[in-house]
Amino acid sequence: MQTLIAGGVVVSATGSAPAEVLVEGERIVAVVEPGTQLAESIAEGADLVVDATGKLVVPGGVDAHTHMEMPFGGTRASDTFETGTRAAAFGGTTTIADFAIQRRGESLRRSLDAWFAKADGQCAVDYGFHMILSDVNDQSLAEMDDLVAEGVTSFKLFMAYPGVFYSTDGDIVLAMQRAAAGGSTIMMHAENGIAIDVLVDEALARGDTAPRFHGLTRPERLEAEATHRAVELARVTGAPLYVVHLSASGALEEVVAARDRGQNAFAETCPQYLFLSDEDMARDGFEGAKYVCSPPLRARHHHDALWRGLRTNDLSVVSTDHCPFCFKEQKELGREDFSKIPNGIPGVEHRMDLIFQGVVRKEITLERWVEVTSTTPARMFGLYPRKGVVAPGADADLVVYDPRRRQTLSAESHHMAVDYSAYEGFEITGGVDTVVARGRVVVSGGRYTGARGDGRFVARGLNQYLL
Ligand code: URP
Ligand code: ZN
Ligand code: ZN
Repeated sequence: MQTLIAGGVVVSATGSAPAEVLVEGERIVAVVEPGTQLAESIAEGADLVVDATGKLVVPGGVDAHTHMEMPFGGTRASDTFETGTRAAAFGGTTTIADFAIQRRGESLRRSLDAWFAKADGQCAVDYGFHMILSDVNDQSLAEMDDLVAEGVTSFKLFMAYPGVFYSTDGDIVLAMQRAAAGGSTIMMHAENGIAIDVLVDEALARGDTAPRFHGLTRPERLEAEATHRAVELARVTGAPLYVVHLSASGALEEVVAARDRGQNAFAETCPQYLFLSDEDMARDGFEGAKYVCSPPLRARHHHDALWRGLRTNDLSVVSTDHCPFCFKEQKELGREDFSKIPNGIPGVEHRMDLIFQGVVRKEITLERWVEVTSTTPARMFGLYPRKGVVAPGADADLVVYDPRRRQTLSAESHHMAVDYSAYEGFEITGGVDTVVARGRVVVSGGRYTGARGDGRFVARGLNQYLL
């Protein structure tokens, strides 16, 4: 089966040019200059032609940070691997990296197998796993190398959530030493959870129970402090560090300082930190619960710093940290106590569209849009050049993107299994037209044409930014 994507402008991280893309089976086999004899003979032989005239052709998005079905605060994230990856496909994301979670007392092997079982045969798009280490001990440290060998090459540690996922600085050093030796990357949730818990207890004792106190008890300085500590621990141990869901300028300054010294330190931000703010968390009544995530949404002035960071490559990646909880039954758990609101915001469907607004507003170039949403996450997490690029030999994960379409984001039209949209009523320019995942058209004209189980596990290599 040969499919030709014809008439579009192919955008890569390094440039854009009109080109025809020929897909055979699951792979891209040719990217050809239009109007040439070669292009014409290819067009004659194609079984299916997707017309991309007037549109952009970009590599499928890679969302390096999702939490499908994540157990949290007595409930679980409302998107399953099936619904969440289908929503991802609608939004032009053709690969996700989700987080398998080690429970305390459980081996990495057992935890990873549990996540394999959840995802197997369910996904619309390809998926990989990172592993959350919540019990650092001799066995789990030894198992890190086994996981690397089977393509789970990054490990998330938490400086927040004492008693749940929290690791001490000592645990962190041990895991980082192992990562440095084995070549894996440490992903860090950098917030000082010990200090935060004191502020949370004090707020609740005062009767300050509304959602906005979630933000007020997690000040940005405690993210900056933890980021500084993570950077220093990585510096001492020599481990590659990737700071997840960076939300504010203070933490960014710590990453910049590390990168300026030449340290292997990287960071991602997420759409919610670029478009939403603490004002959303302070909405009337309990509405603010929809916006509770950690780190929390910050004051608007941080947006400029984060867009600048994306322009300058101080921030390398935009991921979603997609972790949806329904407003009605799940966020409700914290109506009387903000600390019981499950943490997380839905977003896997809207990342490509929202970051495209950065192109529309001239915050970033078209090429940088592709780089931060696809190419860099593919390289950072060992998926390149299979993912993240439109080139012969790559998986045929392609998005035909209409840069002129107008759309309004809403829970009524989104495909995520969650009863609200954090971006309700947002009017945006640009939209996904067609999505090809490993050679199959899975979204076309707003309809899903794929099938459950199309997506496969992808074993990842090591971080390709390391020497
Ligand atoms: O609020 C968030 N971020 N929920 C998901 C878990 C995490 O820390 O990434
Ligand atoms: Zn986190
Ligand atoms: Zn997360």
